[in-house]
Amino acid sequence: MLFIRYWNDGTMIKIEKIIANRLVFANRKHSQANVSEKLKLKPGELKKLRKIAKKSFEQKDMKLKNFMKYDFFVLKNGKAIVGFFVVSGKRLCLMAIEPGHRRKGIGSFAMNFIKRKYKNLFLMVKSRNKDAIKFYEKHGWKKIRLVRNYYKHGWKHAVRMAI
Ligand SMILES: CC(C)(COP(=O)(O)OP(=O)(O)OC[C@H]1O[C@@H](n2cnc3c(N)ncnc32)[C@H](O)[C@@H]1OP(=O)(O)O)[C@@H](O)C(=O)NCCC(=O)NCCS
Repeated sequence: MLFIRYWNDGTMIKIEKIIANRLVFANRKHSQANVSEKLKLKPGELKKLRKIAKKSFEQKDMKLKNFMKYDFFVLKNGKAIVGFFVVSGKRLCLMAIEPGHRRKGIGSFAMNFIKRKYKNLFLMVKSRNKDAIKFYEKHGWKKIRLVRNYYKHGWKHAVRMAI
């Protein structure tokens, strides 16, 4: 699956779906090359995803591999990964753009893709993450309710949003 948008400054963002599952990772030690091919992740790209996650979320040891059994998409500027998002069933689980690439419309590009591909989604976001809440509201998401003590790491309270 491929989706591309060009910016005036030469940025070209492409959305790619990662094909992976736990089994593939479980076999990782046997053949790195084989794993990369199946994942469509080149060596170093998982590391890059982890870096973006670390800079974007309060939980520092997020197990990104565990999300790869869901619909896991990466956003690439040319060959460089600049963000990712994950959808599981009706839930938008994760969404992150590399800090240096924020406020350029890349998140919106991804969100428009998500809204076209998936319907009736919900998400949970930290209630103090006002920036992300603004971003989601701009894209038509509505706050449904506050869920106290939802998170284990950092700020505990969540807002459930839906579209
Ligand atoms: C939320 C996030 C994905 C937005 O990505 P982005 O590429 O910067 O978003 P866009 O450039 O498309 O922003 C679209 C609009 O959303 C709103 N918005 C986005 N970031 C905002 C911010 N930091 N403060 C206020 N409004 C913001 C603005 O209205 C913006 O339009 P504008 O730039 O014309 O004012 C990105 O900030 C991010 O990765 N945050 C860290 C991870 C996170 O919090 N993820 C969500 C919870 S899982």
